[in-house]
Amino acid sequence: MGRGMMIFLSSLMLAVLFAVFHGMVGAQEDIIVLEHKEAFNKLQRPPVKFTHAKHAELYPDCTQCHHAYEYKGGQKVNDWSGEGQPCSECHKVVGEGKKIPLMKAFHESCRGCHRQLDKEGKKTGPVACGECHIRQQPAKD
Ligand code: HEC
Ligand code: HEC
Ligand code: HEC
Ligand code: HEC
Repeated sequence: MGRGMMIFLSSLMLAVLFAVFHGMVGAQEDIIVLEHKEAFNKLQRPPVKFTHAKHAELYPDCTQCHHAYEYKGGQKVNDWSGEGQPCSECHKVVGEGKKIPLMKAFHESCRGCHRQLDKEGKKTGPVACGECHIRQQPAKD
């Protein structure tokens, strides 16, 4: 094999390696694994792989999910966004009074939207438990 060919082949390999590595890193950033063990204590269901980047592309108005409420003179206003603020900062596992508990906050947001779109006959995400809480291995229980 000629020297030129060798150089060509090794740079091709580098390019392929870079593309594979870049793709892996990109995929990790695009998906958020929702497993709030620190809040729920012990998870009853498998963690949820959430395609955050895809959802953010579908809904560029981040406040669709990252809403933030403030009460002013008894009126609910949400004119600011809580991007990146964990839901658990406001929604506790055990809701007090009329406050929405954490699991319900997730389910009402995620499943609520999927269900609504399904009703409208639009392209949507899963509503069945096992399609969000995906088992990785055969159950041992
Ligand atoms: C659209 C996606 C989606 C669907 C469908 C869904 N869940 Fe969830 N669920 C979530 C998310 C997201 C969380 C928050 C997980 C976390 O952050 O740990 C959650 C949390 C939970 C939790 C509390 C955390 C834990 O594992 O103990 C339970 C229990 C749960 N879900 C059960 C169910 C059951 C039962 C169903 C079906 C009736 C269901 N879920 C359907 C997305 C979903
Ligand atoms: C379909 C719902 C949805 C949309 C739309 C959405 N997000 Fe999120 N985002 C979430 C959820 C759920 C979490 C996880 C929150 C938690 O852990 O409590 C999150 C987490 C984040 C985080 C924390 C990153 C991390 O790794 O935990 C940032 C930053 C963020 N979102 C920014 C944005 C921005 C900016 C937009 C708009 C371009 C956006 N989000 C749109 C639901 C959404
Ligand atoms: C800054 C505090 C705060 C954060 C952060 C927050 N919420 Fe809320 N959310 C509230 C308040 C306040 C309400 C009104 C009911 C209550 O007090 O629980 C509410 C209500 C809801 C409701 C009921 C429907 C509605 O819009 O009124 C859902 C669903 C919900 N939140 C989901 C989420 C999810 C999912 C996240 C994370 C992406 C999140 N929330 C982050 C404060 C917050
Ligand atoms: C405002 C509406 C809306 C909300 C809120 C929402 N989704 Fe979705 N979701 C969609 C739509 C629309 C699709 C279908 C996207 C497609 O196929 O192009 C989808 C698809 C999905 C899929 C299938 C895989 C994929 O990426 O297409 C999963 C899993 C999913 N959503 C999980 C969640 C979880 C978990 C949450 C809450 C943290 C959530 N979704 C919140 C609208 C929503």
